[in-house]
Amino acid sequence: MGLFSRKKPKLPKLGSPPLNRLPVHFVPVFWGCKNAQAFADSVSAAIAQVEPGYHFADNLFTWSRNNSMLDDEAFVQAWRSNIESKPDEGIVWRRYILACAAYHCVQLEGDFVECGAYTGVAMKTVIDYLGGPEFPRRFWGYDLFERTTRCLRTAPISNSACARNLHNTRRCAS
Ligand SMILES: C[S@@+](CC[C@H](N)C(=O)[O-])C[C@H]1O[C@@H](n2cnc3c(N)ncnc32)[C@H](O)[C@@H]1O
Repeated sequence: MGLFSRKKPKLPKLGSPPLNRLPVHFVPVFWGCKNAQAFADSVSAAIAQVEPGYHFADNLFTWSRNNSMLDDEAFVQAWRSNIESKPDEGIVWRRYILACAAYHCVQLEGDFVECGAYTGVAMKTVIDYLGGPEFPRRFWGYDLFERTTRCLRTAPISNSACARNLHNTRRCAS
């Protein structure tokens, strides 16, 4: 309790998105597919059949959604400026869930902790979204640095088992 920083968090303001723009997000980097190219081609064919507002990245494909994270300028700045790899470019939906949770948590007492922080891309995205140098909480990052290609491998499974495998590989994700 005594360690609680009384510094007020600097909360990002949400602007009004342009009404004539429906953002899409397409970064064909994913995990757990037998043939990554064939899978990306299949989804590209599916995208041609759906309404705009699609999102395909980080093992997530959806459409007719507003991709509202891309309308949050403070978040987009924080996310983009911390991209270190192609997967980081794709991982935006999960980053925004994290950033929105952090938006609420930063208004509560206590430190932040990320278990499995690796190089700190997620941590730094949260910190930058919530004030950068003025981020008012202590943020602890832990990692065993055991990340290997195991998390990124193409699993030797059939396409029909792909969905199940995507679920299984989820435990490799942050
Ligand atoms: C997929 S990376 C996540 C990177 C980061 N969370 C991000 O979003 O950019 C998973 C990380 O978790 C770490 N990890 C796995 N098990 C762990 C454990 N028991 N304790 C600490 N770190 C662990 C791995 O070393 C790896 O770097």
